[in-house]
Amino acid sequence: MCGIVGYVGPRRALDVVVEGLRRLEYRGYDSSGVAVIGADGLQVAKKAGRIENLDKELATRSITGSTAMGHTRWATHGAPNDRNAHPHTDASGRVAVIHNGIIENFGALRAELERDGVELVSETDTETVAHLVAAQLEAQGGSLADALRAVCRRLQGAFTLVLLDAQEPDVVVAARRNSPLVLGVGDGETFLGSDVAAFIEFTREAVELGQNQIVEIRRDGYVITDFDGKPAEGTPFHIDWDLTAAEKGGYEYFMLKEIQEQPAAVRDTLLGHLVSGQIVLDEQRFDQQELRDIDKVFIVACGTAYHAGMIGKQAIEHWTRVPVEVEMASEFRYRDPVLDRQTLVVAISQSGETADTLEAVRHARDQRAKVLAICNTNGAQIPRESDAVIYTHAGPEIGVAATKTFLAQVAAVELLGLALAQARGTKYGDEIIREFDDLCSVPDAIAEVLTVVEPVRALAREIAQSKTILFLGRHVGYPVALEGALKLKELAYMHAEGFPAGELKHGPIALIEEGLPVVVVMPSPTGRPLLHQKMLSNVAEIKARGARTIVISEADDSAARNLAAHFIAVPSVPTLLSPFVTTVPLQVLAAEIAQARGCDVDKPRNLAKSVTVE
Ligand code: G6P
Repeated sequence: MCGIVGYVGPRRALDVVVEGLRRLEYRGYDSSGVAVIGADGLQVAKKAGRIENLDKELATRSITGSTAMGHTRWATHGAPNDRNAHPHTDASGRVAVIHNGIIENFGALRAELERDGVELVSETDTETVAHLVAAQLEAQGGSLADALRAVCRRLQGAFTLVLLDAQEPDVVVAARRNSPLVLGVGDGETFLGSDVAAFIEFTREAVELGQNQIVEIRRDGYVITDFDGKPAEGTPFHIDWDLTAAEKGGYEYFMLKEIQEQPAAVRDTLLGHLVSGQIVLDEQRFDQQELRDIDKVFIVACGTAYHAGMIGKQAIEHWTRVPVEVEMASEFRYRDPVLDRQTLVVAISQSGETADTLEAVRHARDQRAKVLAICNTNGAQIPRESDAVIYTHAGPEIGVAATKTFLAQVAAVELLGLALAQARGTKYGDEIIREFDDLCSVPDAIAEVLTVVEPVRALAREIAQSKTILFLGRHVGYPVALEGALKLKELAYMHAEGFPAGELKHGPIALIEEGLPVVVVMPSPTGRPLLHQKMLSNVAEIKARGARTIVISEADDSAARNLAAHFIAVPSVPTLLSPFVTTVPLQVLAAEIAQARGCDVDKPRNLAKSVTVE
């Protein structure tokens, strides 16, 4: 949430940061802005709305220089207008600042500045930092880094701050607490970014900054200290995905490409996890005995990742007989859950930086619970603070609404179920290998679905103007229904709800009226015959009341086909794996409806991909 770029080097710095902002726009797109130090001193340009607006503004100015920073905003404090866009400066225009996060004590700091006669021009929490740093420089002298250190010691909350000082034209200074920041180390040039996408076209060598650290970057390298000025170290790493992975490859939207990449995302996530007949995790900092001692599992996650958790619950309970609760991460720590050393908390997060999930992890660790992360971002904060990790190798996901990372999360959480079953002996080794082999056949099944989704697109265009669409499922089909409804809300701004089909008669059935599209995710007729029978009755009940039934089921499910106004056939796979095939048509449906309604599929309004505030 909010994208940050910084650069010092021989290139035209403005071009480097604007290009970086384009790659980080998925983090927020309420406004964008840049600050550059060059022959004309420190110059700032910023505009509300998408980067195209900033481009137009920059076309009217001539800004040059080799030290720069840029920001793309997801608004927290203050409306998304030009005035609240970052960078913010002090009154003299000497210091400029950009920020990702929330400074929680900004009210008190702002009041203090106003008492001192400072006029603040924006409603943001960020602007206070520009004035405080400028005042510190004025009063104490010293470097920009010294001044920022002094100010950071007074700040509460989460922040990545990046600053320029007109009087130190060759340096960019940044601070980090609880919001992401990585350095890119080039040859005679140094970069900063909220993530590596900001600079991947220039260097593959990166350094992750730690908590409460300050970094000064110059052409010839960087210096890291803590907030007291003591030398500190970051964590160097090599970036192993390339630029093409983050480019559209001929698709109109990243999300459409990412839907197609799902077989590979699942395949790569499973790769290397069965070694000599044993399931292995990516990182494990607790032992087999501790795994055996686990008597309760909580899965915490947000949004789409939460739905992956709901599917994981079914698999883990079925394979291990350990009770699993799935909780919205934002609710978890505030309700005082019962946790102890024998509790495993599984945090699922694509970005690994979602503030709600990170705080849930910290709460769990405070209570001595074990924490395992499922994450798509190597070295992100959530896996760093966890006892064990399974990485989803889905590659970079640029579309704000999750697709391929969702299926990769389902694969990872099912893998975890098998690892727990293995440690606890609730399944024989050969059974585990069979389940793992079934998982490995999933990519082919997903690929098969992708070849037959054309009719779903046609259907989507027909129902694109409906006022609402309902989604029904049971068992693992219920989270799929929730995910289908969430995709539609996110992408097409259309009202949609997912329900457990059996619950319909207890209220929601009152919503059914003539022609209302209802998408039904059927359980397998052979895998769950009893449930299938119940579901058929539910479909008959809504059909009798005029619903336009859109039914997803196995191709030879003739009973369901007979009740369907539109039938979407998917391959037959074992029950716990069915979400891999039933989710795909729902993603396509939502994307196509969104396009028919003229929505930006990759950048839905009001959303951001990484939500680093609670
Ligand atoms: C945001 C995104 C969602 C995502 C959720 C959790 O709200 O818009 O698509 O599912 O965050 O993100 P995470 O990175 O923790 O999986």
